[in-house]
Amino acid sequence: MSEETAPYGSGAAKPAAPAKRIRTQHLRELKERGERFAMLTAYDMYTAQVFDEAGIEVLLVGDSASNNVYGNETSLPVTVDELIPLTRAVSRSVKRSLVVGDLPFGSYQRSPEQAYDTAVRFMKEGGAHAIKLEGGREMAPQIELLSRGGVPVMAHIGFTPQSEHALGGYRVQGRGETSDRILDDARAVEEAGAFAVVMEMVPGDVAAQVTKELSIPTIGIGAGLECDAQVLVWQDAFGMRTGRMARFVKQYADLHGVLLDGARAYAEDVRSGRFPGAEHTF
Ligand code: KIV
Repeated sequence: MSEETAPYGSGAAKPAAPAKRIRTQHLRELKERGERFAMLTAYDMYTAQVFDEAGIEVLLVGDSASNNVYGNETSLPVTVDELIPLTRAVSRSVKRSLVVGDLPFGSYQRSPEQAYDTAVRFMKEGGAHAIKLEGGREMAPQIELLSRGGVPVMAHIGFTPQSEHALGGYRVQGRGETSDRILDDARAVEEAGAFAVVMEMVPGDVAAQVTKELSIPTIGIGAGLECDAQVLVWQDAFGMRTGRMARFVKQYADLHGVLLDGARAYAEDVRSGRFPGAEHTF
């Protein structure tokens, strides 16, 4: 049985219909048909399996692992060597989702050749199906070389967290007269060969205009409803992280609460001698 027609899985609870691996061209076809798709971050085996089973089309092993896995304050410190094992865990764990590896700060900006070498590591060592990099017009040479060299590229424009200090902090990009810059960046990355583009913290009307003009799918995060797809960091979407959230986050579960209750109940059972019981004892 070929990979393209392999059944989704062998467990009885899984959908019976055969599921094809999502390819970049499928995302474009979804856009052409006016059908939206979903993207989430994932950094490990179990979340990757759950999101894959849930039918999330694209999983991003984001450099947001820096502040959601490795305990840093921002995405800047994370390294290629730290992201590749997470990418490998995710790509090994999915049957259907397209896995995108995120090139971290400093690993691609210097030259197209540097970008190519880093991207090849994500694909060879991490098993990524595609990579993402931040930047618009200025990244066109990188996107061109990667695309010519067999690396599908997802671009990321608008607010680009790796440039937080250059952009003067977390702020919406492309308001008022600067909206033209977003459009120029979007056109440039499409022209250079990107298969999709993330737009972060861009006014909804600007994102809508970009989405209408581009043939490649747009993926919004704080960019309104008119994008072809949406992405969220899973710890934000499912309440693993607590505290102040960006306005664009919607919380779909309270995993922090579930784990906290479970951990407290376990500790209480241990302290009071209720665990382990006879049924847990050999
Ligand atoms: O690293 C990341 O999680 C991202 C998404 C927020 C798009 O870049």
